[in-house]
Amino acid sequence: MKEDLKRKYSFETITTHLVTSGFLYPSSEIYGGLSNTWDYGQLGTLVENHLRNVWRQHFVREKMNVYEIDPAIIMNPKVWKATGHVDNFHDPLVDCKHCHERFRADKLIKENKPELDVDGLTSKEMNDLIQSGEIKCPSCDSTSFTPIRQFQMMFKTFIGVTEDSSSEAYLRPETAQGLFVNFKNVQRTARAKLPFGICDIGKAFRNEITPGNFTFRTREFTQMEIEFFYKPSDENDAKYFDYWKQECLSFVEKVGLKPDYLRYRDHEPTELAFYSKGTTDIEYFFPSLGWGELMGIASRTNYDLSRHQNASSQDLTYLDPEDNTRYIPHVIEPSFGCDRLLLALFCDAYDEEEVGGEKRIVLRLDKKLAPYTAAILPLSNKLVDQAKDKLWSLLAKDFDVVFDQTGSIGKRYRREDAIGTPYCITYDFQSEEDDSVTVRERDSMEQVRIKISELNSYLKEQLTK
Ligand code: GAP
Repeated sequence: MKEDLKRKYSFETITTHLVTSGFLYPSSEIYGGLSNTWDYGQLGTLVENHLRNVWRQHFVREKMNVYEIDPAIIMNPKVWKATGHVDNFHDPLVDCKHCHERFRADKLIKENKPELDVDGLTSKEMNDLIQSGEIKCPSCDSTSFTPIRQFQMMFKTFIGVTEDSSSEAYLRPETAQGLFVNFKNVQRTARAKLPFGICDIGKAFRNEITPGNFTFRTREFTQMEIEFFYKPSDENDAKYFDYWKQECLSFVEKVGLKPDYLRYRDHEPTELAFYSKGTTDIEYFFPSLGWGELMGIASRTNYDLSRHQNASSQDLTYLDPEDNTRYIPHVIEPSFGCDRLLLALFCDAYDEEEVGGEKRIVLRLDKKLAPYTAAILPLSNKLVDQAKDKLWSLLAKDFDVVFDQTGSIGKRYRREDAIGTPYCITYDFQSEEDDSVTVRERDSMEQVRIKISELNSYLKEQLTK
């Protein structure tokens, strides 16, 4: 059933809207941009902040045993040696000898031979196939390629003044390791008992070979990750894996993604990341792109803590107060890409309809996520000062609000609809008499008259509905 899905608006229509209205901008645009790099604009930043808050509410505040920390981006490079990233976190690349276009070997084979199980091939088998003359370059049809080279995906940098191997460091390719290396710190200082989680929100960096599709795959992106530690046993592995799968799905539905465009996908054993015993992705059906990974829930067992214990010679075991045994906890990792989730939310929210013979663009974002909860609109220029005095500081202490005094009321409504503002509050001449305002709701376009003194509680109530 879900395979027949259709989307009403193209990816291009939606992303163009986002760029032209202040949600995202091409990065360093005045210098011609930097390929596949985007800056969040004033509206996108507000939505991102709101999404982070809802994530915190759902995964940290409402849980009694999840602790948020904020680890450094550049860590001791021994971390990445210990985890296996230095040795394993690379992509197999080939260049077309004719047109010099570069491809990921597995993707190139998949494109040429969709019937083949590429994930099951070794690097040598992939290379043999690419050199066999059976594989064509998608750009120029040549069958001549360079041998496969492994390309390290971590960004390298240097600490201090000398640029040699002793000063080499990496920008973290996942935020997760900052959580693992702090396992003992948090456990001790929070006096945390298993099961408990450590989480963070932060930037991760990967030198992706094939970035693209707007913010779907970029070289720097924000992750919201949790490592949930528990006492190892097969029974617990299954119990906590299922629990977090459900929590993640209920979170994405809570922020407004339509269930029709969501599905779980279990990783095949051959495509599992090198640290994972089992992974389930939540996928989203993106317009024009089709199904794509939104986030992943991975069973990382005691892989990371064991590796860090061996490499650092520090004791990372947990002393179980219940039976006085020591062990290295297992971990389930729910990992969200913040940018991908935002992109999915924008895709779900974008809508067009005809009102009074004219096109109205409406961004039907969840009210908690919309950039502004309300727009304050003085009906006439003569009312600008009064609207500011009576409404701005009253509302700004509780909500993100915007003040718009230019253009007809109809035009201002359209502007706010297009950026997803759920409430437009009009201050008119009658307001001077009755201390009330007209509140118009974005989706239904219905209007109600509300006392200014009751506005904040009215809006708060609407946001919790
Ligand atoms: N710690 C586990 C981990 O990093 P991952 O599947 O590589 O797992 C988790 O990444 C999530 O981060 C993905 O589901 C995706 O949402 C996001 N992500 C990964 N690479 C990304 C990229 N290049 N651009 C944007 N988001 C990315």
